Amino acid sequence: MKSMKLYTNVQRIHNELAALGIGPDAALRVDQLTPFDQYHYFGTDAVDEALEVLQLQPGSRVLDVGSGIGGPARYIAAKTGAHVTALELQPDLHEVARGLTARCGLSSRVEHVCGNILDGAVAENFDAIISFLCFLHIPDRAKLFSACRAALKPEGVMYIEDFGKSRALSADEAKALAVKVQCAGLPGRAEYETHLAEAGFPQVVTSDVTGAWKDFTASRLAMFRTARPRSIEVHGQEIVDDLDDFYGAVAQLFQDGAITGLKIIAR
Ligand SMILES: C[S@@+](CC[C@H](N)C(=O)[O-])C[C@H]1O[C@@H](n2cnc3c(N)ncnc32)[C@H](O)[C@@H]1O
Repeated sequence: MKSMKLYTNVQRIHNELAALGIGPDAALRVDQLTPFDQYHYFGTDAVDEALEVLQLQPGSRVLDVGSGIGGPARYIAAKTGAHVTALELQPDLHEVARGLTARCGLSSRVEHVCGNILDGAVAENFDAIISFLCFLHIPDRAKLFSACRAALKPEGVMYIEDFGKSRALSADEAKALAVKVQCAGLPGRAEYETHLAEAGFPQVVTSDVTGAWKDFTASRLAMFRTARPRSIEVHGQEIVDDLDDFYGAVAQLFQDGAITGLKIIAR
């Protein structure tokens, strides 16, 4: 996983907080973190779109698969009063997430679990699953979707943001995807829907958001490069070079039409 440079130096959020004058043990508000803790596209706007679909209530039980440093989980818990189980594979991300959640006073509503969705790492009876840009790391979709189905109540709903296959890839594109994005292969839209149906999700609505994600990843890279001198002051050269490499690789894949963006609601 660490060949994907978004996932190296995940402590960097503490550099951003220090630059705002927020000390390492200070209490935090969720809105102070959201500029830095959403590892997907369009930040909390994307999470709000999911919330419109999910219609969560205080006390609803939500599983966030691949929760990163916990941004979406904290935002959902704070906004809706739902209880979120935030499942994250990588121990360093999990630890950063847990610390930030505690400092937001949200530990009773966001439970952080370090584990692999494929290993049955979570309980059952969730009302909803969300997963933002995680499934692209998991080639075994039969096992993945069967684990998700097992975690949900029968009337549950799953909201996914993911990459999809657009066309056959050149060797260089496949290598960039495999090494820099830790993505061994992707299904096309129709194949994705078949995998879900086979795992027990007969109702699937898919939207293609490739155009928006192509624009987002290009402008993220451009803004990052404009802000480079300030970023080097805050984080140091190595972190900035790592992020530039990652943002550049993803922007290029979208620019070249090598991958698609998908939002999927599966019931
Ligand atoms: C691009 S990040 C997105 C994080 C978060 N969803 C967000 O939007 O801020 C994807 C995360 O999925 C996690 N992940 C990948 N495979 C996983 C698995 N099999 N089980 C649990 N988490 C996984 C990665 O470690 C990574 O932190």
